Amino acid sequence: MSTNPSVQELRSLDQQYHLHPFTHHLDMHETGTHLIKSGDGCFLVDEDDRRLLDGLAGLWCVNVGYNCSAITSAVTNQMRNLPYYPSFFNSTTEPPIRVAEFLAKKAPPRINHTVFSNSGSEANESALKIIRSYHKLRGQPGKFKILSRTFAYHGVTMATTSMTGLPSCYDPFNLPLPGFIHVPGPHPYGVNSPLDPEAFGKWCLEETARIIREEGADTIAAMFVEPVQGAGGVIPPPTGYLQGLRELLRANNILFVADEVITAFGRVGDWFASGLWNLDPDLITLAKGITSGYLPLGATMVSDEITDVIHSGGYFAHGFTYSGHPTSAAAALANLQTIESLGLVERVRSDVGPYFQEKLHSFAEHPAVAEIRGIGLIGAMELVPRGGRSALTPASALGVRASGLIRKEGTIVRGIRDLIAVAPPLIITHEEIDQLFESISAGLEKLWD
Ligand SMILES: Cc1ncc(COP(=O)(O)O)c(C=O)c1O
Repeated sequence: MSTNPSVQELRSLDQQYHLHPFTHHLDMHETGTHLIKSGDGCFLVDEDDRRLLDGLAGLWCVNVGYNCSAITSAVTNQMRNLPYYPSFFNSTTEPPIRVAEFLAKKAPPRINHTVFSNSGSEANESALKIIRSYHKLRGQPGKFKILSRTFAYHGVTMATTSMTGLPSCYDPFNLPLPGFIHVPGPHPYGVNSPLDPEAFGKWCLEETARIIREEGADTIAAMFVEPVQGAGGVIPPPTGYLQGLRELLRANNILFVADEVITAFGRVGDWFASGLWNLDPDLITLAKGITSGYLPLGATMVSDEITDVIHSGGYFAHGFTYSGHPTSAAAALANLQTIESLGLVERVRSDVGPYFQEKLHSFAEHPAVAEIRGIGLIGAMELVPRGGRSALTPASALGVRASGLIRKEGTIVRGIRDLIAVAPPLIITHEEIDQLFESISAGLEKLWD
C-alpha cells in the first residue's frame, strides 16, 4: 500500500478493480465513493478530514466504538502467539472455548453450545444444516421446510437469501428456493394496513397458523425470527406477538430460531433479545456485535436437546476452515468482556436507550415523519414527501435522500426505502445523542426543498 495515496487515485483504482456489496455502482461512480480513513469512539474521519458521527455503528455492529484497545491488544497478542489453527479433527485453541463459555453463561438456560462461523449468513446457514440433521436423526427427514417473515433479513447465501423477506434481495437471484415459505411480518405501516400494530400482530399470528395448517406442521422444520427486524426497516414486535408466535411454533413442534445478529449484546437493553422477551429459542444465531465488527465471526448457539441429537449422530460433517478462528475469537472475548466491564447492556436499558428513544420520538409531530419505531438503541423514522404518504412512490427512496442530507450535517444514518434507520455504538453519550438528532433535524429541514 502506498503511504499517502490521493483520494482521486483510490477512487479510480476502486472503480477499476472493486465490486462493492449492496451498491449501485453507476450511481456510486457518478457521485464518488466516500472514503473513510479512521475512527475513534463513535466518530469516523473521512477523506476530507471531516469527523462524522456514526449513527449506524458501521453496519449495526461497532458496539464498543472504534478504538477499543482491549480488543486490538487481544488481537495483537493472539496474532503473535498463534494467528490461526482450526477446530476440525479433535483440535482446538483457547479463545473459541472461552467465547463459547461466555455465551452459554449469558444465553437462555437451555442454550449451552456454540458452533462458530464467519458471518451472520453463515451462522444462519449453519443453523439450517443443524436443523435438517436434527430432524433426520430423529427419523423425520420430511420435516424440512423453513418459515420466515416478510421484511426479514437473514443474509446473502442461497438459503439465507431464500429466508430473507425482501423482494429486492431475492428477486434478482430467482429465489427463494423451494421449501422456504414467507409468512407476514408484523409491519402494518409497510403494507399500508389500517390495523394498529397489536391487531396486525394478531392477524399475522392467525395467518402464520393458517399457513402451518396448509403446509402441514409435520413438513416444517423451523422458523427464523429476528426479535426486532433490522435491515427490513427496524420493526420491533407488537405487544404479545413474539410470545404468541413462540407458543404457536411449540404447539406445532416447529423449532424456533432467534436470529440475534443485530439484537444481541446490548442493542435492545439485554444480552439477548430472547432474554428480554423470554423467548426460550431452540437456536440463536449471532455475528456483528459479537466482535463489535473488529473481525469477522458468526456463531450458532443450540439447545441441549439439539446438541444431544447431533452428538448421537456421530461425525458432524459441517464447519468452515475458520470456524472458531482463534484471532477472531480473541477479539470476541475482549469485546464481550468490555461490554460487561463497562456495563453497556445496563447502560442501554436504563440510561442511553431511554434517552435515545425520547429524542427519536420527539420527531413524532415533524411534518416529514409519518411513523417512528424503536427500542433500546435502535430506531427508525418513516418519511413522507410534502404531499403526504399518498404521494410516495416505489422510486421515491426518501430514506436514501434523507441519509445523504444528514451525512452533510455530519452524521451517518442508513436510508432504507422511505425510512432512516439509526443504531449508534452502545458507548454513545447523551451529548453525542443530541448531536445525532440535531443532524437528523437539520437534514430533514431540507428534505422537502
Ligand atoms: C438479522 C441479520 N441476520 C443475518 C445477517 C447477515 O449477516 P452477515 O452480513 O454477517 O452475513 C444480518 C446482516 O445484516 C442481519 O441483520
